Amino acid sequence: MTDYSTSMRTDRCGDLRADDVDRSVTLCGWVDRRREHGEHLAFIDLRDRSGVVQLVIDGAHDLRSEYVLQVTGNVRLRPNDTANQALPTGAIEIDVAEVTILSTSDPLPFPLDDRTEVDEVLRLRHRYLDLRRSRMQRNLEVRARVNSAVRTAMEEQGFIEVETPMLIASTPEGARDFVVPSRKEPGSFYALPQSPQLFKQLCMVGGIDRYYQIARCLRDEDLRADRQFEFMQLDAEASFVSQDDVLVFISHAVASAAEAITGERPGEIPRMSWLEAMERFGTDKPDIRFGMELVELTEVFAGTEFRAFQAPCVKGIRVPGGAETSRNRLDEITDQCRSWGAKGLVWMKVTEDGLNSPVAKFLTDDEQSALAAAMDAEVGDLILIVADERRAARHILGLLRIELGRPPVTEGGLHFLWVVDFPLFEGMDDAGNPIPAHHPFTMPHPDDMDALDRGDLLDVRSQAYDLVLNGWELGSGSVRIHQREVQEQVFGILGIGAEEAQSKFGFLLDAFRYGPPPHAGFAFGMDRLTAILAGEENIREVIAYPKTQSGADPLTGAPTAIDDRQLEELGLRVLPPASQA
Ligand code: AMO
Ligand code: AMP
Repeated sequence: MTDYSTSMRTDRCGDLRADDVDRSVTLCGWVDRRREHGEHLAFIDLRDRSGVVQLVIDGAHDLRSEYVLQVTGNVRLRPNDTANQALPTGAIEIDVAEVTILSTSDPLPFPLDDRTEVDEVLRLRHRYLDLRRSRMQRNLEVRARVNSAVRTAMEEQGFIEVETPMLIASTPEGARDFVVPSRKEPGSFYALPQSPQLFKQLCMVGGIDRYYQIARCLRDEDLRADRQFEFMQLDAEASFVSQDDVLVFISHAVASAAEAITGERPGEIPRMSWLEAMERFGTDKPDIRFGMELVELTEVFAGTEFRAFQAPCVKGIRVPGGAETSRNRLDEITDQCRSWGAKGLVWMKVTEDGLNSPVAKFLTDDEQSALAAAMDAEVGDLILIVADERRAARHILGLLRIELGRPPVTEGGLHFLWVVDFPLFEGMDDAGNPIPAHHPFTMPHPDDMDALDRGDLLDVRSQAYDLVLNGWELGSGSVRIHQREVQEQVFGILGIGAEEAQSKFGFLLDAFRYGPPPHAGFAFGMDRLTAILAGEENIREVIAYPKTQSGADPLTGAPTAIDDRQLEELGLRVLPPASQA
């Protein structure tokens, strides 16, 4: 038990119980709520981080909401019919003998109870007040416990924490860099790390065979519920390991975090290949909390006369009980699919009399019954079908499945999933260069080196793996390339020429001259894991001082202009906004 007594208080408000009756205590805290009882008697809930306790104060005092008090008094049982079962301290109250006002407060810009919905910007402008609310107090405590559990889990496995720098040259993770101008070298810039990727690989060359860090990462990308400019990763790397070893290390870390919050340790995390995930769920981050899986129908319609289904791939999903869906809603869903790139969407309602659909008349009886069998259709279901190239059909139905079936990320328990055997490249960009599915340091699958040499790039698998939780990408990792020649080959394939490679990653390639060990690693988002464990759908709610959706900090006003002298010192001149130029 932690001793919370200090020179100013004997106890914390929320810790007092019936056992403490007749003790004289001194407490410090904020006036949470005040109820008058006659002219001279006031009941006040005094609040600190541990909770609230009821004070009974006799005599006139001007004690307003959020004043900070120090009180001394006796703990006594509340009269029988006034005990409050819902409150941990509800059996007792403090008969106050002495009150000191430690500080006063202006009226608050918003109430601190958890029932009131408060505007986001207002909350963030006064984040220090928002942090007093029980929701934020709880979330920051969950966050601290997750951090601590993850640290312990990594250290139990022999990892040591190494801090890597914030002012670096660019590390490619696929987002834009935040940059910091150099005063000593005007015209030159540091990049803030998108991740410690290159430094942790250099740690491996440096013989630190199990590295971890709870690392701050910065990426200039569009913000969403699961994305902030700056965020924390559990970042790890180990030498002389295989993919399986890494999966064990990281599974232990996330299981320990979950156990620290829920009290229950999740079982072994299932694995699924990337290809299976794409075929069954249409995404590389399957939400396995619900069904509605993509069903393969290509064979069913192999000889169909219906033009729309004469495509390389036909797939469908079944919405149980969806036959009630209105025509309007079906039109909406169809438009939504078109906006995702679909050529169209076929819907079918399963009725007592067979399939009810505008296109049923184009399908033979055999096709209709084979379809119903493949879909496991039951009366009352809705079937939705897309025909297209395989990638497109999977993608559209994957989005549709989420749109129609997905519960909030915090519901239905914790469903972790490893997705393994990612392809090395996820497609080609407009310039004809392949887009790496992970970052360019990922080792190709040893069985696919020939395909890499031949240039059959989209057939090359990699030794990359992701961890998914309730449909959110929690983390990514890979076995790394540790041979200089292979790394140079991959840079070449990515369209990074020898000169560019040398100027951007020369230090890594140089390091690989000096006995680099085989190594592999992983990073997962601490904010995402914490949010789901805290029951929050936006990572903002588990970050003490987050940015708004537009990237602003209403508390400090950042980002702000800097003055001309500072600009000059840095050798910078600001152009007028593009629209005015
Ligand atoms: P990756 O880029 O997949 O991998 O990032 C790992 C995890 O970090 C979290 N994350 C974010 N969280 C909040 N806001 C963001 N903007 C944001 N971006 C990423 C996600 C993500 O899964 N160096 C590699 C890892 C490795 O190969 O070892 C990397 O950073 O949860
Ligand atoms: P059409 O022949 O284009 O009038 O389309 C007939 C029906 O099939 C409409 O309901 C379309 O939305 C649907 N449809 C057309 N193309 C596709 C496709 N590729 N996949 C699924 N449905 C389609």
